[in-house]
Amino acid sequence: MLTWNPNLLIRDEESSYNKNLFCIPKHYEEDLERVFIPHGLILDRTERLARDIMQDMGSHPIVALCVLKGGYKFFADLLDQIKALNQNGDKSVPVTVDFVRIKSYCNESPAEKISFIGEELSTLSGKYFFYHFQDIIETGRTMKALLSKIKDKKPRMVKVVSVLVKRTCQSPGYRPDYTGFEIPDQSVVGYALDYNEYFRDLNHICILKDNAEEKYRM
Ligand code: IMP
Ligand code: MG
Repeated sequence: MLTWNPNLLIRDEESSYNKNLFCIPKHYEEDLERVFIPHGLILDRTERLARDIMQDMGSHPIVALCVLKGGYKFFADLLDQIKALNQNGDKSVPVTVDFVRIKSYCNESPAEKISFIGEELSTLSGKYFFYHFQDIIETGRTMKALLSKIKDKKPRMVKVVSVLVKRTCQSPGYRPDYTGFEIPDQSVVGYALDYNEYFRDLNHICILKDNAEEKYRM
């Protein structure tokens, strides 16, 4: 069992929220069981993660690497927060961005299907400080496969930032450097996390109804 800062941990028995208390796109109303993490809470947590990251950072330029597609919302929101701190704080750090794409089918672990976009990180070889933004870590296989590719570039430092970590017995206990929330072992969608490419256009992180998986399965 992971030992974890209890403030981040959402326990198995902890309730989620009635979806009727929130604004949900009409096209998904029938598919969702509950709202698990409301959008506002994600943003509040992101604000704090940005502060923690900035505090730990030196003054070296960093490369922020977004893992597509699931990491794009978190990446954009967290970078906005870092930009705000850069603009208003005593310390500021130059940030460049890059993107890596991974593909999965029906939430299977996509570790073996990693493809780099554009220049395949070749332009990054002279830059050494990576911050790597992922949507969710389940078994950790995707993360490990990506890290081994990044490490080919011989970075001086790599930090992993993930919105969610799933508590699962499949997990080898891999722990990112920064985590938004640790969640029970269940499938979630929204905030760019998908089920077969659907639900990325949903602000809140939600739990699907069982019959929705059937409906959206290809
Ligand atoms: P891992 O390789 O088993 O750690 O799986 C991580 C990847 O699987 C993530 O980047 C997601 O693309 C996908 N994934 C795992 N769990 C979920 C989920 O609950 N919802 C949506 N995608 C998920
Ligand atoms: Mg996916």
